[in-house]
This record gives sequence, C-alpha cells and structure tokens, in this order.
Amino acid sequence: MTELEGIKKSYNGEPVLRGVSLKIEDGEFISVMGESGSGKSTLLGIAGGFIQPDGGRVLWNGRDISSLSAADTARFRCTEMGFVFQSFRLISTLTARENIMLPAMLAGQDVKKVREYMLFICGELGIDGMLDKYPQKLSGGQQQRTAIARALAFRPHTVVLDEPTGALDSAMQQKVMQLLKEINAEGTTVIQVTHSAAMAAYGGRTVRIKDGMLCG
Ligand SMILES: Nc1ncnc2c1ncn2[C@@H]1O[C@H](COP(=O)(O)OP(=O)(O)OP(=O)(O)O)[C@@H](O)[C@H]1O
Ligand SMILES: [Mg+2]
Repeated sequence: MTELEGIKKSYNGEPVLRGVSLKIEDGEFISVMGESGSGKSTLLGIAGGFIQPDGGRVLWNGRDISSLSAADTARFRCTEMGFVFQSFRLISTLTARENIMLPAMLAGQDVKKVREYMLFICGELGIDGMLDKYPQKLSGGQQQRTAIARALAFRPHTVVLDEPTGALDSAMQQKVMQLLKEINAEGTTVIQVTHSAAMAAYGGRTVRIKDGMLCG
C-alpha cells in the first residue's frame, strides 16, 4: 500500500502541492488527472521516493520512506515499484533488452523466468523485434513502450506510469490500457497519470489535482 499524508512541495517559493493526502490500496487501478503544470509528475516522483517533499509523509506498506536507507529504497524500487517516467529515462548505453531486464537483474531475480515474461510483454507491446537496438535508434513511441516493458517485466507489486501513452497511436494506447487492466486483475496495483478521460476510465478511480489540492 502507498500512502501520501499531507504532502507539500514548492519550487522557488511557488507552492505546487499544498497538502495532498492519498491512500492507494493494494490492487487498485487509480488515474490521476489535472492541467499541465498542476503537479502530477511531482506527486508521482514523491510517491516513488525520487523527489523529496517539503512536508508530509510517504508510507510504503506502512513504513515512512524517510526512515529507509538508500539501499533499502533502491531495493524496494527494484522489487516492488515499476516506474514509467514521462521522459522515459532509458539508459542510452544499454540496448532496449538490457534496459528492460535491468530492474530484475539489480534485484537478483531469476533472469530466466523474467526473460520469458519479458518476451510476452514485449510481444504484446509490439517491440519484440527491436530489443537489440539502443534507445537513440528507437522512435519516441518505441522508447515509451520500452519504458513500459521495463516497468512491467519484473512483475512489481505496483506500477506507476506518468502519461504512459502520450507518444502512442490510438490502437497501441488501447493495447497498453488492456495490458494494465490484465495485470491489475492479476493483483498488481496501477497508478497512472493521464490527460485523457478515455484512458482514465480504464481505472477504478480517478483523482484530480487542482490548485495544489486533490479532489475526488
Ligand atoms: N525541478 C523543478 N524545479 C523547478 N520547478 C519545477 C521542477 N519540477 C517541476 N516544477 C514546476 O512545478 C510545477 C508542476 O510540475 P509537474 O511536472 O509536476 O506538472 P505536471 O502536472 O506533471 O504537468 P504536465 O501535465 O505538463 O506533465 C510546474 O509549474 C513546474 O514548472
Ligand atoms: Mg507531468
């Protein structure tokens, strides 16, 4: 379970989040919406422990993440939380395949088992034919699908996706949403940011950020 309690964050004195609380239960599929610049990526970054809030607490399975060591935080991310960044953040010196396998390898998972599932995911996403390419040789949509595969392949407990279909055509957008629905039905918690009401509707609950606050 991921809990945000009274999260506050300002940049250069400008408040972005003014006290946001959100509890995401295990097995939920939640969509976060809000205007550009409203703080959606900031909120996801805080939930993932990548961005430090100015106030409030983030709890992963009841543990305040500020009490975790850097090693524990890294371990948690490699085993529990798959992240798709808005700007993808693929590692340019690794092939698509190596990028996708990296979390599982860092977490010491059974690479053979992960490889099978990874090939299934890549097949679903239509990138199985380009796994030996480096990110700069991939189109934006192919990079986005690689980033999605990296977040899903190690079967994390929770997947966090920041506008995961922004670079994709509508058929592939639906395919990604179907895939998220399937893994959610198998028990994975899904947290997505989207600008699209149609994409949000795949989830079970939608919350909106407005004026630094969350509304229902
Ligand atoms: N590292 C940073 N330094 C300074 N300001 C920042 C930083 N990150 C975000 N901001 C500002 O915080 C606000 C919220 O940014 P954020 O990226 O969270 O918005 P968003 O809702 O994800 O927008 P979008 O829909 O365009 O992705 C914006 O005004 C942005 O300029
Ligand atoms: Mg954003």
